[in-house]
Amino acid sequence: MDLAIAGRGALVFGGSRGMGRACAQQLALEGVRVVIAARTEATLRQAAAELTAQAGTPVGWVVADITTAAGRDAALAACPAPDILVNNADGRPPGDFREWTPEDWHAALDAMMVGPIEMIRRTVDPMLERGFGRIVNIVSRSVKTPAAELGLSNGARSGLVGFVAGVARQTVRRNVTINNILPGAFATDAQRHHIEGMIAKGETKSFEQLWDERGRDNPAGRFGEAAEVGGLCAYLCSAQAGYITGQSLMIDGGAYPGTF
Ligand SMILES: NC(=O)c1ccc[n+]([C@@H]2O[C@H](COP(=O)([O-])OP(=O)(O)OC[C@H]3O[C@@H](n4cnc5c(N)ncnc54)[C@H](OP(=O)(O)O)[C@@H]3O)[C@@H](O)[C@H]2O)c1
Repeated sequence: MDLAIAGRGALVFGGSRGMGRACAQQLALEGVRVVIAARTEATLRQAAAELTAQAGTPVGWVVADITTAAGRDAALAACPAPDILVNNADGRPPGDFREWTPEDWHAALDAMMVGPIEMIRRTVDPMLERGFGRIVNIVSRSVKTPAAELGLSNGARSGLVGFVAGVARQTVRRNVTINNILPGAFATDAQRHHIEGMIAKGETKSFEQLWDERGRDNPAGRFGEAAEVGGLCAYLCSAQAGYITGQSLMIDGGAYPGTF
């Protein structure tokens, strides 16, 4: 299927690694002019070069931290008025809520709620004027199946999803959609850091045991592959997906046990 987005411009946060990179790759393969944003120049440079070679279309990059005003300015200077915005950044490590300070909460909110909302605020009006826009937030299954130790994520990400649920109904009339992807367990650096965090907090099993269990215990018997999120993201950004908005789509190998 031709997604009919060739020539559109996309800004993909967290585009240097993991699921963000997979989104950038799939969009670039569709002929989208992609700029990837993240905090580390070396990985950005390398990812942009590899994605350019794979897609045969130039992929740009910018050092930009979504949690800071300066980072968001830098991203928009590199990719002014994108047609497609992918919001994505690190989660927070697991822990006990009794130990979290207001500063921990502010950091979580900046990464998982305020940063993405600021990016939506600053890109949505030009999208509405052009009559096309696609915004995808990489969130987490944790907003639907919360684990207590991921409370910073559960709280901050739920704020973003709640905000999107309202605003997405205001923009769709002008062909601007806003949706959330809720990944389950994916074999990425974030998964490695999550398991390392569990061990640091007293989990007695080894890294290898935990890694194997988490993949094997999924109904699919494996971790998700980042490319699977990339494909879903590209479809949500397609011309054909203009009637899908305000949704939170689980991609978790069936781990969420409900009927709906
Ligand atoms: N992997 C899983 O199983 C899983 C499950 C549910 C939810 N999630 C969530 O999904 C998101 C993506 O996960 P992933 O597994 O793809 O992560 P990943 O492989 O660790 O990649 C994260 C990407 O985001 C960039 N990044 C991190 N913080 C940033 C910031 N403040 N500003 C801009 N870029 C930033 C990173 O580059 P730099 O570090 O260089 O900035 C990197 O490009 C995360 O929020 C994660 O918590 C992951």
